[in-house]
Amino acid sequence: MKPYLLLFSAAMLLIASCAPKSVQEEPESDDQKAVRMEWFSQAKLGIFIHWGIYSRGDWSESWAFHNGVVSMEDYFAQENDFTASDYNPAEWVQLIKESGARYTVITSKHHDGFALWDTKAGDVSAVKSSAAGRDVLTPFVDEVRRQGGLKLGLYYSLIDWPREDYPNVFRAGPARYDIHQEPERWQHFLDFNTAQLKEINEGYKPDLIWFDGDWEFKAEEWDSPGIVAMLRESNPDVIINSRINGYGDYATPELGVPVVRPKDRWWETCMTINNSWGFRKRDTRFKSPDTIIRMLVDCMSLGGNLLLDIGPRADGTIPEEEVQILKELGRWISKHEEAVYSTRAGITPGHVQAYTTLNKEGDILYLYFPYTPNESIEVKGLKSRVKNVRVVGTDRQLRWRLYNDIDWSETPGVYYIQVPADVLDPRMTVLALELETPATLYEGSGQVISFNE
Ligand code: GLC
Repeated sequence: MKPYLLLFSAAMLLIASCAPKSVQEEPESDDQKAVRMEWFSQAKLGIFIHWGIYSRGDWSESWAFHNGVVSMEDYFAQENDFTASDYNPAEWVQLIKESGARYTVITSKHHDGFALWDTKAGDVSAVKSSAAGRDVLTPFVDEVRRQGGLKLGLYYSLIDWPREDYPNVFRAGPARYDIHQEPERWQHFLDFNTAQLKEINEGYKPDLIWFDGDWEFKAEEWDSPGIVAMLRESNPDVIINSRINGYGDYATPELGVPVVRPKDRWWETCMTINNSWGFRKRDTRFKSPDTIIRMLVDCMSLGGNLLLDIGPRADGTIPEEEVQILKELGRWISKHEEAVYSTRAGITPGHVQAYTTLNKEGDILYLYFPYTPNESIEVKGLKSRVKNVRVVGTDRQLRWRLYNDIDWSETPGVYYIQVPADVLDPRMTVLALELETPATLYEGSGQVISFNE
């Protein structure tokens, strides 16, 4: 090779090795994603926390001024009552763990722009503009990490209605500006969001980021894929919910358990404990522990999680009704632990009048009864044979009868399992049907038997 050619090649090599590494990474395979999502799919219950200046309890979180229920001035005057004077993050975390939840998601910033941490990107925060005068997020994060056993999620609103560089402020009323007419102003806002997201993502390394408010703009306007890539760059295993125009990892239906199993492999229903996200003085319509346990089991039976919300007061105390509900949930979950965390979606409805799940191997079918059975319960269309029936959380085994189990019929026999009153759980009884082989089902509409013995 000619010397100048050699020199040229060496120079090219040097340039190539100094060039920044390509950001174009291999796309994540389904198996890799399943590994990343593993803790989420086993968690089943998460506790959502809405806490901000709205926690004084007079008006709804952010929406109150956006919908014109209260002036912006009155809304922000609530900053003076956000004292966090009785805030005890160790107790919060203890209670969340006691509820049986395996993750928690806290509003680091809602649509009103009030940040719970000491953001350097803006002036609206617990530190700079509230009576608390201090960072209230970091102590919570520290406790979650210190006590262990809980994954940390941070809710972050893409929307920030009060900011001058954010286009929309009131629902009824013109936008401040058009982002396509004033792209620089919009970019200024996006840079602000990016700066805040970097602070929380790099500062706290959350296990999950829970976006909200994507509906006001399109993916290309927010640069949703860019935001997701930026988060993953420094926090590669972070799980991201879907409210980033669908660029996240899992679906988030809200305030209603799906009726059919969602198409998305991973999902979570978020649910209020009464009728409000943040604390409201007048909202005493708390759901009963029975209702919440049903919602949880309903989600589990359809392969999803329940993210149950609590709303601490502005002083940091958690309403007693909420404490009691979480404790009762914890009692039920700890008794039935075997039938909670390691389960997956159950069988198609119709085989039994109960919610169902399966263990990982598919050879234990769990049945959850939110009612008192009369004498016995029926299970039909189950081809795998039952070898044992246990009452979960007790040492009791139950007797059953198998009717019309005819070996020349393709319709399997029908099981009647006797459930005596003294094995019932006051909230929801769970049975484990141990099967000889992983569950297989008959799902037909019956047949004529053309041969009899
Ligand atoms: C909604 C609301 C909000 C609430 C959230 C929780 O999208 O905008 O106020 O925080 O749902 O899921």
